[in-house]
Amino acid sequence: MIKFFLRLFIPAIGLLAFEACAGQSVDKNYADHCASCHGAGRLGGSGPALLPENLARLRRPEAFKVIAEGRTASQMAGFSDKLGKEEIQALADLIYQPLPAVPVWGANEIITSYLQHVPAGSLPDKPVFDADPLNLFVVVELGDHHATILDGDKFEPIYRFPTRYALHGGPKFSPDGRFVYFASRDGWVSKFDIYNLKVVAEVRAGINTRNLAVSGDGKTVLVGNYLPHTLVLLDAADLSLIKVIPAEGLNGKSSRVSAVYQAEPRGSFIAALKDVKEVWEIPYATKDFPVRRIAVDNYLDDFFFDQSYRHLIGAARDGKKGQVVDLDSGTKTAEIDLPGMPHLGSGITWAYQGRPVMATPNLKEALVSVIDMTTWQTIKQIKTIGPGFFMRSHENTPYAWTDGFSSNSQASRDAMTLIDKRTLEIVKVLRPMPGKTAAHVEFTRDGKYALVSIWENDGALIVYDAATLKEVKRLPMNKPSGKYNVYNKITHSAGTSH
Ligand code: HEC
Repeated sequence: MIKFFLRLFIPAIGLLAFEACAGQSVDKNYADHCASCHGAGRLGGSGPALLPENLARLRRPEAFKVIAEGRTASQMAGFSDKLGKEEIQALADLIYQPLPAVPVWGANEIITSYLQHVPAGSLPDKPVFDADPLNLFVVVELGDHHATILDGDKFEPIYRFPTRYALHGGPKFSPDGRFVYFASRDGWVSKFDIYNLKVVAEVRAGINTRNLAVSGDGKTVLVGNYLPHTLVLLDAADLSLIKVIPAEGLNGKSSRVSAVYQAEPRGSFIAALKDVKEVWEIPYATKDFPVRRIAVDNYLDDFFFDQSYRHLIGAARDGKKGQVVDLDSGTKTAEIDLPGMPHLGSGITWAYQGRPVMATPNLKEALVSVIDMTTWQTIKQIKTIGPGFFMRSHENTPYAWTDGFSSNSQASRDAMTLIDKRTLEIVKVLRPMPGKTAAHVEFTRDGKYALVSIWENDGALIVYDAATLKEVKRLPMNKPSGKYNVYNKITHSAGTSH
């Protein structure tokens, strides 16, 4: 009898002792704290896939630090207040364990996933609504994974529809503005017919996707993936698969794709690789889509192009300098002094005293850098209310608007800073909804109105008169992350990122 009790009792004590010193098991911690963003199988969700093949650039001590302290200006919050040191170390070790098998997502899987909702070309060529089809906004509402088509003259929603889970990277339009293409973090590409308010086709191009681009001739879609390490070319007409290109450096090392863009004046796509120091140019009208490799000095996590797409301005997340690459010669032509962590992806350009300048917000420091694009020298660092994320302007307005989205303090996250493009001085700080996060501005086609997001689940779009800076209208929205004006996007307005 005593023996029987001991047999029950001793393991129980052992278990208690174990729990007291090591906390929960690492698998349970992963499931409780990480899976909601990084996926149950570490394959990615709203956060990136956490697999050894995707962590080549992250040394283990850094992984510990990211999990403990979080990552600036991202959804990745630190866990040091919730988890003990050993628990964090166990999670950092876990993510470097290979999976028994990483799911394959190649041509067969892409083709099998294909969903045709409406045969290509079968719908009428006229909008089913009266609004100006070039002054519509596509508003992405991340809160409940919906998108709204908004009339940009009356500021009235025309249609609201569910999207795939966690859209990422701005949606991209066909050159005529009729179709919009969305990519979700879990790899789904959807083509939406704005005239007919219908999703026409969908295909899953990857497991964990970064973003997509639509070629300047409207014929091809390029998708960049984190997992697998591929670029996927789709026929823009029906989203059927054209080709899968493995993202592999000249040295044979495979890589995640940082982002893809289309460079219409060059007739090409541009893709930056995240784990290999290369940028690729892929001419979209050339048979078989040959890859031209351009070697760069450092990794490119974030980048920007001048209006002609002759120059690429790129930066690594941890770099001190931006690099300017001449895409014609394929060589680096300048370095740019960029303190903190610039957010080049949100950069804009305008003419200042007769010179083309670019401006970029900063994820770490409360400043906007203004750079002369002929000499690549910094003209001014404009002090702002807090580190920002987005920046926007329009050819017809003298002001550039920037947010305080990357600030840790709510006292700057609710502010929009307006900079006069003629003087480089701050002219006004707006607080659209005090205490609530304000982010991402977009202008109407004519530049007369600016739409600001209140980035909360009970958020809103707030419409301002861009000249008087008076509020004109407030529309309730569920975490409206971004809004994209058809005309500004298809004409590559200098005031908006591309
Ligand atoms: C609310 C969503 C969310 C949760 C919860 C979350 N993460 Fe993250 N995580 C992210 C995002 C988004 C990023 C990408 C950040 C960036 O670099 O922009 C990220 C990045 C990371 C990175 C860096 C990856 C790299 O390639 O550099 C690691 C490591 C990481 N997370 C681990 C974890 C672990 C472990 C947990 C659980 C304890 C966790 N995360 C919970 C959203 C989340």
